[in-house]
Amino acid sequence: MSESTDRSGFNSYFGFLMAAVGSAVGFGNIWGFPYKMGTHGGFAFLICYLILAVLVGFAIMFGELFIGRREMLGPMGSYINIGKRNGKNLKFMGWLAMLSALFLMGFYCTLGGYVLKYTIANIGTLVNAGWGMSGEAGAYFTAFTTDQTQAVAWAVIFVVLTAFICIGGVSGGIEKFCKIGMPLLFVILIVIIIKSVTLPGSSAGLAFIFKPQWDMLMGKEFVNTLGSAGGQMFFSLSLGMGAMITYGSYLTKKENLESSAWIIVICDTIVALMAALAVFPAVFAFGMEPAGGPGLLFVTMQSVFDSMGAIGPVMGTLFYFLVTIAGISSSISLLEVVTVSLQEMTGKGDPNKGWSRKKAVLTGAVVVGIMNIIVALDGLGATGLPQPLGKCWLDFFDLLAEGIMMPFGALVMSIIVGWVIGKDAVVKEATLEGNKFHEVGMFMACTKVIAPIGMAFILLGQIDSFFGLGLFSL
Ligand code: PHE
Repeated sequence: MSESTDRSGFNSYFGFLMAAVGSAVGFGNIWGFPYKMGTHGGFAFLICYLILAVLVGFAIMFGELFIGRREMLGPMGSYINIGKRNGKNLKFMGWLAMLSALFLMGFYCTLGGYVLKYTIANIGTLVNAGWGMSGEAGAYFTAFTTDQTQAVAWAVIFVVLTAFICIGGVSGGIEKFCKIGMPLLFVILIVIIIKSVTLPGSSAGLAFIFKPQWDMLMGKEFVNTLGSAGGQMFFSLSLGMGAMITYGSYLTKKENLESSAWIIVICDTIVALMAALAVFPAVFAFGMEPAGGPGLLFVTMQSVFDSMGAIGPVMGTLFYFLVTIAGISSSISLLEVVTVSLQEMTGKGDPNKGWSRKKAVLTGAVVVGIMNIIVALDGLGATGLPQPLGKCWLDFFDLLAEGIMMPFGALVMSIIVGWVIGKDAVVKEATLEGNKFHEVGMFMACTKVIAPIGMAFILLGQIDSFFGLGLFSL
């Protein structure tokens, strides 16, 4: 088989699962979920999250895996074919997926670069080298992010690592990395949780995350909580931009689509809860203020490690290494979407006639590299680069991807599966080779009605929170 026609997928089902879970488990699980859960109602937030994951997340996850596995193509080729068969032009959905992946990667790798830098700097502290962490965590972070040369260099290294794995191919690169990386991430997470929850004073952190605040489910607060849980849910599950279509396209016909979708949703949720257990008990044990986003990851957590004494650099190294694995396994799924989309686009729907894998990966990586150079130069808006719409370049790319394109893509995708493709084709694909599809009725109700309504609401919530329109806090 020539390089350009090689569309061989994962070597094993376990490899597929680890890659899909790897895509889902990312920065969103570590700095998004725990903080949102803590500030949006604790256990009450968790209930909203779980209901949305079951009624909306599962349906979209299944729908994407179904599209990919049925068409055996990425989003671009899949939507072109589905459109042709149904007398519609759905190519815009392929474009939407590719652009979402590009914009998301456009800042994801800069953050990945920060995490890489922190892993190495904690190793430096561990071995007592001159290049270790120094000074107060907040000042260190500002100095690093506003040092444009360093920030750009680390972002570029992260892009190169991602491209290197993708060039290796689906089984030779992505599967290999995730089969080792994901179990390792799980083990490191357990080590950190044990340390975190056994620190004196950690129970305040547990209370912050889990204590139910039922008033968050009352009146106007309910809309806020639901919006926040929904936004977190679809981003964390890597939905709405074709990552799961792409991975689904490498799945063999004998695997069960329904249980695959459940496994990915459940594993992602478990890791998000584990991240909460790893982070906030330690934050509270050292009397620090809870935070979310980059502040939590790079300032609060680093201060925690700085306060831990001799074990601090060990824990710091393990923690940032874990986050690096989570970041890379998500980033390779994004570059894979760009890669197959470019191949399918240049082959007019047929990847065999389009660019070689190597050419597509490298082209994608150059575009993503340029975007990340802008974001890294910008230093979260601190270095005086001319600003686009929004607070900084990172927020701008995030708004386009996570705020608009991804929820819109997920919304239209569920309508296409429910109303255009329809039940018979779904059942046929899901029951190939003797597989069972238990929740057909529930799935069709979700994909036709509940998921589109849920995603329309989430789209509104995302736009509201990015522009601070206050719609949800009326
Ligand atoms: N799910 C990833 C996270 O939680 C983000 C992501 C979205 C990755 C879409 C790939 C595709 O960080």
